[in-house]
Amino acid sequence: MKAKKTARKRGPLRSGPRSIAVLCSGGDAPGMNAAVRAVVRCAIFHGLDVYGVYKGYTGLLEGTFEKMNLRSVANIIQRGGTILKTDRCQAFFQKSARAEAVHILRRKKIDALVVIGGEGSYTGAHLMQKENGFKVVGIPGTIDNDVYGSEYTIGFDTAVNTALDAIDKIRDTASAHDRVFLVEVMGRTSAEIAMRVGVSGGAETIVVPGKTNAAIIDDLARSLKKSAAAGKLSSIVVVAESGHPEFTTQLALDLRAKHGIDPRVAILGYLQRGGTPTAQDRYMASLMGAHAVDALVNGKSNLSIGVVNGAIAEIPLRKTVGRHKKADHALLKLAAILAS
Ligand code: F6P
Repeated sequence: MKAKKTARKRGPLRSGPRSIAVLCSGGDAPGMNAAVRAVVRCAIFHGLDVYGVYKGYTGLLEGTFEKMNLRSVANIIQRGGTILKTDRCQAFFQKSARAEAVHILRRKKIDALVVIGGEGSYTGAHLMQKENGFKVVGIPGTIDNDVYGSEYTIGFDTAVNTALDAIDKIRDTASAHDRVFLVEVMGRTSAEIAMRVGVSGGAETIVVPGKTNAAIIDDLARSLKKSAAAGKLSSIVVVAESGHPEFTTQLALDLRAKHGIDPRVAILGYLQRGGTPTAQDRYMASLMGAHAVDALVNGKSNLSIGVVNGAIAEIPLRKTVGRHKKADHALLKLAAILAS
């Protein structure tokens, strides 16, 4: 993907902001720091003042802002997590809290806000603009890759690679003991991580949400018995966490009770959210951060800076909220063929 040409501006354009803020919200994702760095440095390049808001929308309401300079974001591109910290702010579901946040921003003479986060964070941002006319731009940052309207979200590639590394290791022990492993990956209700990890990790089967538990168990048992009959001594099954706690553990118990299969369970969990961001995540975060600032400088707002047909694109925020990206279920069939 090519970077867009950025012409040096002499101070902000008349329609654009003079001062912006940036925050991270929702689950942290590797690459968020690269996005913060890009926003801060591009804003300064364009002659804007830029503030970091600590702890997402909670920090916005508490007024924990810090004026950033070029050195504030030094040596962070390679770090996981987020230097700004993040939060899931329940208060922000209230209209009055969003109005208060805009009041605080205006009092600090901040004209626009860049929000790095997932769909929940986007909803808060969109409503801030809709209800109070405050300029916002979103950058999709979540390992789940489930933000509607964008082919990519920051953190997805690192999470997938972390899960793959774990699966390669689990395969060694699965093979040594001739065992079946159920490996649960994150993604909340989205199957994007499971699909990508399943195909790339050579999983025998990928379990995704959508069917009843009984149907999932019967399908899985059938597929594992078929693999065993074909001479496979060990199997890796990638399970999407499905938004239900204990889902995979229960799956293992049911397989044992109903079908006499005795799988081991590995829940990868928060491991997938940490670690050094991959080149892909740093690069995408850098391009998205730069584009977010360009959009604001050019007087645009209420946008998500996503990826469409492989290129950085501006998507109206209102089109991204309250919707979920559909996983490509053809990948399940492909995984089965490749694992045969
Ligand atoms: O949205 C990112 C994510 O890591 C999901 O994959 C997971 O279901 C959820 O966050 C966990 O949320 P929390 O950090 O609130 O436990």
